[in-house]
Amino acid sequence: MPQVTADVHTDGMEIIELDPADGDLVSGAFDVMTAAHAVDHPENPAPHRATFVAGLSYPPPDEDEAHFVAVEDGQVRALLGIGMPNRGNLHFAWAWIIVHPEHRRKGIGSALVDTYVAYARGRGRTELTLDTHMSWEGGLERSKAGQLFNEHHGFKLALTWINRRCAVDALDAATEQALLEKAEAAAGDEYEVISWIGRTPEELVETMARIDSTILAEVPLGELGLEPETIDAELKNAKADRNEAMGMKIVQTVARHRGTGEVVANTCVFIHDDGEFPDAYQGITIVDKDHRGHRLGLLLKIVNVRLVRENFPHIRAIWTDNADVNAPMIDINVTLGYEIVDAGGEFSRKFEA
Ligand SMILES: CC(C)(COP(=O)(O)OP(=O)(O)OC[C@H]1O[C@@H](n2cnc3c(N)ncnc32)[C@H](O)[C@@H]1OP(=O)(O)O)[C@@H](O)C(=O)NCCC(=O)NCCS
Repeated sequence: MPQVTADVHTDGMEIIELDPADGDLVSGAFDVMTAAHAVDHPENPAPHRATFVAGLSYPPPDEDEAHFVAVEDGQVRALLGIGMPNRGNLHFAWAWIIVHPEHRRKGIGSALVDTYVAYARGRGRTELTLDTHMSWEGGLERSKAGQLFNEHHGFKLALTWINRRCAVDALDAATEQALLEKAEAAAGDEYEVISWIGRTPEELVETMARIDSTILAEVPLGELGLEPETIDAELKNAKADRNEAMGMKIVQTVARHRGTGEVVANTCVFIHDDGEFPDAYQGITIVDKDHRGHRLGLLLKIVNVRLVRENFPHIRAIWTDNADVNAPMIDINVTLGYEIVDAGGEFSRKFEA
C-alpha cells in the first residue's frame, strides 16, 4: 500500500496539504481556479470565493475531504480536491485537479494525480475518479486536455453528463402559466405542493430524508460502482448546517402525498447568499417511482423557479447537469428552456483491494 505523503517535493515544486487557516495558500488556490475558469470555461458560473473558503473548513458531513496545492517559487500553481464518502461507498474516492493555464504540460497535474492515488489508496479506496469539462454537440467547444490527461493516467470515461443553462425568464409568462396549469391538472388533488427557502421544516425532515435516500438508486450512474446510501434526519440536518456555513440558500419545492403524508417528489435550487452572483445551481429533482407520470417534476420546477425569481431577483440563470441517458429529466428541462452549454465526464480507475 502506498504511503501518504503530506509534502511531496518534485524539482523545486512542493505539494502541500492545504490548511484552511493559511490565508496566502487559500488565496493562491482560489486564484488558480479563477484563472482556469477564464481560459477553460468562462461561460460557466465563476468560482465563488466565500463558498470555496468556507467549504475548506466545513466538509460535507458524509464525506472526508482533503485539498492539496502545488507550490513553485512561492506561488500556487495547481490545486487538487479529494472527497471520500465516509458512511457508505467506502471503496470510492473522487477528485478534481486544476493547473494554472500558464503552467500546464510541465507534469504538475501528473504529480497531483500521484498525490491523489497515494492518499486515497492509503485510505483503502479502490475506485478512484477524476472529472473534467468536455464538449457536447450543440454546445461550446471545450479543450480535450482534461479528457486526454485522465486517459493518460488510466482513468476511463464512466459517466457523461450534459450541462445546461436556463435563464430564469426563459419562458414567456403565458407559456409558463399554461404549462403549470397542465401539470396541475395532471397531478390532480392527491398532492399538496409545499415550498420553502433555507432549512427543511422540522416536520418534513424524516420524510425528506427518506426520499433523499433513494437518489443514488434512481439517478443514472453509468459505470460508477456507487451503492445507495441511507440519509437519516441527523445527516439531513448536518447537511443543512453545512449549507448555512457555506452561505448557500436552498429554494425547495416538494409534493406531499395527501394519503400517506410522505414527500414523494422534490426539487431544489442552490443560491449563493450574495446579492451580486447571477448564477444558481439546480440540485436533485426526484419523483418517487410510484408517483411518476403525474407531471410532478415539471410542476415542482415551475413553482420553484417562480420562487427564485420572486426572492432572488439578481439571479439570471440556473445551471443543471444531467446524465446523457436521463431522458425524462432532460425532456422536462428542455420544455423549461434549458439549453446545452457543454458536458462533463467522470473518469474512473479501479485498483486491487
Ligand atoms: C488537465 C490538466 C489538469 C493537465 O495538467 P498538466 O499539468 O498540464 O498535465 P501534465 O503536464 O501532467 O500532463 C500529463 C499528460 O496528460 C496528457 N495531456 C495533458 N494536457 C494535454 C493536452 N492539452 N493535450 C493532449 N494531452 C494532454 C499528456 O499525455 C501529458 O503528457 P505529455 O505532456 O508528456 O504529453 C490541466 O490541463 C487543467 O487544469 N485543465 C482544466 C481542469 C481539468 O480538466 N482537469 C482534469 C483532471 S481532474
